[in-house]
Amino acid sequence: MSFDAIVGGQWGDEGKGKIVDLLSKNVDVVARYQGGANAGHTVYLEDKKIVLHQIPTGALREDCVCVLGNGMVIDPIGILEEINKLKELNIRVNNRIYIDYFSHIVTPIHKFIDRSNEAKTNNEIGTTCKGIGPTYVDKYKRIGLRAVDLLSNSDLQDKMDKRLKFALDNNEISNEAVKDLKEEFKLFYHACDKISIYIKDTFEFLHNALKKNVLIEGAQGTLLDVDYGTYPYVTSSNCSSGGIGTGLGLPGSKLNEITGIFKAYTTRVGGGPFPTELFNEDGQTLGHIGKEFGATTGRPRRCGWFDLVAAKYSAKVNGLTSIAITKLDILNSFKTIRVCTHYDVNGKKIKNMTEALNNLDIVKPIYKEFSGWNTEIENIDNFESLPESAQEYIKYLELEIGVKISIISIGPKRHQIILRNK
Ligand code: GDP
Ligand code: IMO
Ligand code: MG
Repeated sequence: MSFDAIVGGQWGDEGKGKIVDLLSKNVDVVARYQGGANAGHTVYLEDKKIVLHQIPTGALREDCVCVLGNGMVIDPIGILEEINKLKELNIRVNNRIYIDYFSHIVTPIHKFIDRSNEAKTNNEIGTTCKGIGPTYVDKYKRIGLRAVDLLSNSDLQDKMDKRLKFALDNNEISNEAVKDLKEEFKLFYHACDKISIYIKDTFEFLHNALKKNVLIEGAQGTLLDVDYGTYPYVTSSNCSSGGIGTGLGLPGSKLNEITGIFKAYTTRVGGGPFPTELFNEDGQTLGHIGKEFGATTGRPRRCGWFDLVAAKYSAKVNGLTSIAITKLDILNSFKTIRVCTHYDVNGKKIKNMTEALNNLDIVKPIYKEFSGWNTEIENIDNFESLPESAQEYIKYLELEIGVKISIISIGPKRHQIILRNK
């Protein structure tokens, strides 16, 4: 019996997909509690790369039921594409994908509003344009469409007509643009019909599943959390572990382990402050060797050194009980590796994130240097066989964060993993 969670510790894309895939091996249910198709979680089945956006990564383990919780915003067109992709891979989907009744629905109108907001602000936030923000706005405005509305054609049509009228009355969209979206609306209604068989009340199912093994899959990362992240350059949900209670109806008090996923360095995609961002050759090398391009939008990810100030904050916000460090192999060729230990804000040395959170764009990182290991580590299978300087780097991070680093990932494939005893 276990109830564990995986959350992103940084600005997303930490390698959550790979770690969820690893930890879902003996799990009965994998559930997501927030976000939607803005996520891009990469896993490898043998040599085949698979990117999942809305369906939890547990989908690749056939014994596992996948729940898309009420806290998510569901894009029917995207879900149908993912279901078809799983079917093509000969992965069974029947009776193992549950979309909660009360999850909110992303429509072509929401995606249009997202795109036009981005165009108007010259991509200031740099959203994924998947309609995430506008759909959560509707949820909190109490005018949203929910999965349960898809179960009756007339309810769906009524609500869509109402929402479209609201959008036209409030100049969110023009009649001209609505005409241009004709094909997308068709696809939307078709997808709503097709996915309706997966829509269920998941509450009792999830509570019963707590008698077995349940794994929660976070999307995005703590610094993108709408409350605890680098607001307003955030996503529109609570991606930190606090979102689990509201996004699935499972109380946090029942959680056993909360594992934070961190890259051995840092990346961020989209706008917003990033204290350790590198604009030099090191940054380019991290991006190049790390193949740092967004799994959802293909945009290049901004790269920088590991940020301990942010990581310590993230450990506190999430109540982390363990950590997985990914992409340690990407540091193989660096002579010197840096870790930001403090921020300098106008000459003041700061160690607590909240003191700087509103001033992150003027922060200067203060670094501690480590020597690199300059050797390949991709095929090592135990901690003691890692080069000494790599061990030193890991031990330093865990000592400073104060949370055990129990998993180290050294390549994108399933077997490229080092597990350490608790
Ligand atoms: P997620 O959104 O947190 O699931 O992460 P993404 O899938 O967006 O991005 C992580 C990328 O890093 C993917 O391309 C993974 O295949 C890759 N990856 C994960 N762990 C490792 C690792 O330890 N080493 C290397 N080289 N790649 C990794
Ligand atoms: P995974 O789950 C990295 C970023 C976007 C943008 C901001 C708001 O793969 O780690 P949104 O479309 O959510 O309104 O965009 O959040 N963002 C992510 N960055 N990984 C993600 O997901 C992200 N999901 C959203 O780039 O800066
Ligand atoms: Mg991703």
